[in-house]
Formats: sequence, structure tokens, C-alpha cells
Amino acid sequence: MKTHIHQDEITSLSKDFLQKAQTAKDLKTLNGLFSEFFADQRFTNMLDYAESSKKHWKDVKNALRNSLAPIYKESGSWNHSLSKPFGYPGDFAVLEHVYDQKIHKATKSSLGGLIDLWGSSRSLPTAVAERKDLLRNYLENQARLDLPDNRVLSIGCGAAREIRELHPHLLEKLQLTFLDSDERSIDYALNALKATLFEYSIEKVVANGVSDDLSEVLAGQKYDLVYSFGILDYLPEKYAVRLIENMKKTVKPDGKILFCIKDCTKFDAWFYDWFYDWRFVDRTRKEGTELAERCGLEVTREFSVSEGVIIIYECVLDH
Ligand SMILES: C[S@@+](CC[C@H](N)C(=O)[O-])C[C@H]1O[C@@H](n2cnc3c(N)ncnc32)[C@H](O)[C@@H]1O
Repeated sequence: MKTHIHQDEITSLSKDFLQKAQTAKDLKTLNGLFSEFFADQRFTNMLDYAESSKKHWKDVKNALRNSLAPIYKESGSWNHSLSKPFGYPGDFAVLEHVYDQKIHKATKSSLGGLIDLWGSSRSLPTAVAERKDLLRNYLENQARLDLPDNRVLSIGCGAAREIRELHPHLLEKLQLTFLDSDERSIDYALNALKATLFEYSIEKVVANGVSDDLSEVLAGQKYDLVYSFGILDYLPEKYAVRLIENMKKTVKPDGKILFCIKDCTKFDAWFYDWFYDWRFVDRTRKEGTELAERCGLEVTREFSVSEGVIIIYECVLDH
């Protein structure tokens, strides 16, 4: 197989790294080794080369994956991200690991466990966990509002961790609808809630928040709060607009819409693509605001989590 000019450098850098990593007994040692790896001149050369064309990018990514395979195969989280057992990136099961920041159940060795922990402590997973914390607090405040029926719709609900972390007495004040295109995620969320032994009545809707007309799917029902976390990052403009249009159709005239983006200027996109196959549509904080405004929303508040890695937009219909 013909490979690119930096193959030798990638192989020698990875070989050095793999040897040292085998000796790592704790997270701080592994942290240091990875930092050294990324600061190595051979890595800088590789990155420069990759950025010069799409083909080089793909070649470098493949070569790096192959040369690091002996250790990523030990890590359940790393393997899960690359093999995508549910058929798409960012599934509810991998997010549970991101939220818990613990060792994946498929992890095979103590080094694999350290790699899991190292991975979930990177800036993006940390920000994703913090955005969930902010959302949970937002929902607590929503539940305390004195509204006649307090209806809440989550589009792309996944395992609905932010809801599951609410105190049962607040949770029962909300009339919830969980909507996701993957029924397994909604069932996971509902079963986890059932296990708490509190009785909740939550509506389950399997639908596509981008291509379906949600006013039809939900029979014209309107909600006090409509939110969607974790889909927009994967959607180019045309589809992002469709998702927001669906949020507009389902919110009450004086209700709130919440969505979020990852600010591409605040993290290293190459790292998440090369290591985890996580690729996002590049958006900045300003572009997130502009998207909302283009869709006829007024942004009433912007929440920044993890020093701006993720921005959450609270919006109302711009009447
Ligand atoms: C990254 S997860 C986020 C889950 C959850 N909102 C959270 O923040 O933990 C994305 C979820 O959106 C769902 N999803 C992706 N595209 C969708 C679409 N077009 N319509 C409905 N759900 C979608 C996936 O099945 C997955 O459960």
C-alpha cells in the first residue's frame, strides 16, 4: 500500500508513545505522555501535512489510527466511538459514559481504563457534561414556574440524563414529551426513570426532528419549552434551519426555545475527528446567534459553558 510522506514519522512517534504508555499506572502519567505526543515535532509535521489537502487529512488519520490501534482497542470508549454500535456518532450509550466520566464496560485492561478516563476529561466531553448540568438547572427553574400545564418537548432526547437528574417532585410538575429518531434511546431513558419507582407519565414519540413535520407528528400540540441538545452540531445550514423551524412550530407563542452549538474556535477539531470520529459542522458563537436570528428567533440569553466551548441559546419567537 502506498502511503504519504509522513508515514515513517507517524510510525516512529506512535511506537515511542506506545512503549511509554504501557508503563503508565495513573491518569497524570498518561496525561503527560499524551501532551508530549501532541507537542512532538513529528506530530506538528503530521498536522501541517494533513491540513494541506483533504486527501492528506484522510491518509494521516488512517495512518495514525492504525499505528495507535494497539492501545485504542483496549479502551471501550475509544472503540465505541469508532465502531458506532448504534450506527451513528454521539449515541445515548456513549453519552452516558461522557456524563459519568467512568471506565467503559467493554474496556479490557487497566491501561484501557486510563485511556477512557483521559478521553472523557478532554475539553469537549467535559463541556458536554457541563451543558447537561446547565440544562438540568434550567429545567428545575422551568418546573418551579407557575404554569397551567408546563409542557416540555425534548427533540433528540437521547437518554434524557438532564431529566433523570431532576428531583422527582420537580419532575412531576412537567408534562414531558421525549422525541428521538432512535427508539432505543427513549426506551433506555424511560426504563431508567421506571427504575426510580416514581410514577411518571411521559409521552414517547419516535420521529425525525429534521425531516418530519413535527406539528403533524405531535397533532398540533404546543409546548412551553422546546429544546434540542446534540443534533444541531451535525447539521449543515439547510437541515439546521429545518430543525429550528420544527421547534418554532411546536412552541407556544410565549414559550421558550433552547438549542446549543459547539464553538469551533474553542477546541481542536482534528483531535476529535482523528481520535473519535466526531466531526461537527463548524460554527462560532456569533454564527449560532445569526442562525437563530435568520430563523426568526430573538435570542434572549446566551449561556457559555466550559469557557465558551459550548454556547446555549435561549430564544423566543420574534413576533
Ligand atoms: C448527541 S445525542 C444527545 C442526546 C441528549 N439530547 C443529550 O444531550 O444527552 C443525539 C440524539 O439525537 C438523536 N437524533 C439525531 N438526529 C435526530 C433527528 N434528526 N431527529 C430526532 N432525533 C435525532 C439521536 O438518536 C441521539 O439520541
